[in-house]
Amino acid sequence: MSAETSRKKFTVPHLAACKSQGQRMSMVTAYDATFASIVDAGGVDMILVGDSVATVLQGQRNTLGVSMEHMEYHVQMVAAAKPFALVIGDMPFGSYQSSVQEAVHNAIRLIKAGAEIVKLEGGLHVSEQIAAISNADIPVMGHIGLTPQSYHRMGGNKIQGRTDGDSAGSKSRLMEDALSVQEAGACAVVIEGVPADLAADITSQLSIPTIGIGAGVGCDGQVLVMHDLLGLSPRSFTFAKPYVQLRDVATQAIAQYVKEVRSGDWPDAEHSFS
Ligand code: KIV
Repeated sequence: MSAETSRKKFTVPHLAACKSQGQRMSMVTAYDATFASIVDAGGVDMILVGDSVATVLQGQRNTLGVSMEHMEYHVQMVAAAKPFALVIGDMPFGSYQSSVQEAVHNAIRLIKAGAEIVKLEGGLHVSEQIAAISNADIPVMGHIGLTPQSYHRMGGNKIQGRTDGDSAGSKSRLMEDALSVQEAGACAVVIEGVPADLAADITSQLSIPTIGIGAGVGCDGQVLVMHDLLGLSPRSFTFAKPYVQLRDVATQAIAQYVKEVRSGDWPDAEHSFS
């Protein structure tokens, strides 16, 4: 039996099983069927259809402009790849903040589009939404720390959890956020952009798994934006490692094509019809 046929679908209950067995989980973003199938073939446990689509595909400065329609469209494309990985649909800014009813309504839209679990940003202040969505039998993944939808409050995408006191983004507030997300019924929580020791501390206090990005090795799993992992982004970040420089490879391939078109070497006989 090939490795591919023996591979099992990663489902929501696997999140708890991996945490209890100390098995680290991998998660990568994807926004369409082609890349979802590549990411899936690489063996990831989870594919996040993130609202990072704004910065990596739409060319926006932040994630605030993403709509429900955009997210439904990208979730549909990723789900069409029928990945073994769990498909996570990100709830965009404005889709859950204004009311609990709207949060449940929009979570249902993402599930109908093909998501198997939804993710939303925030801690204490969104615990009612997390509880209501969970009570509608929709699994929820939380997201605390550097929450890109809080761009204006944070003054940009700034590392959180470095301050004392109890204001948003402080160490004690992040611990409180994590515990309230768990208490509200989330199955897992992303911890983004916080010092490694704080993320490890939160991870040890929670019974649900933590998935880190820019949060050190002490989390139960890790997530990276696909464009950063594959070296497709024009920028580099401390928290991300390009495992390959696909932007350079792709640019060189395009340049070679342009050269061959100009020289008349393309198309050659092999790629022409008689
Ligand atoms: O939208 C996204 O890609 C995310 C990850 C950075 C966790 O939320």
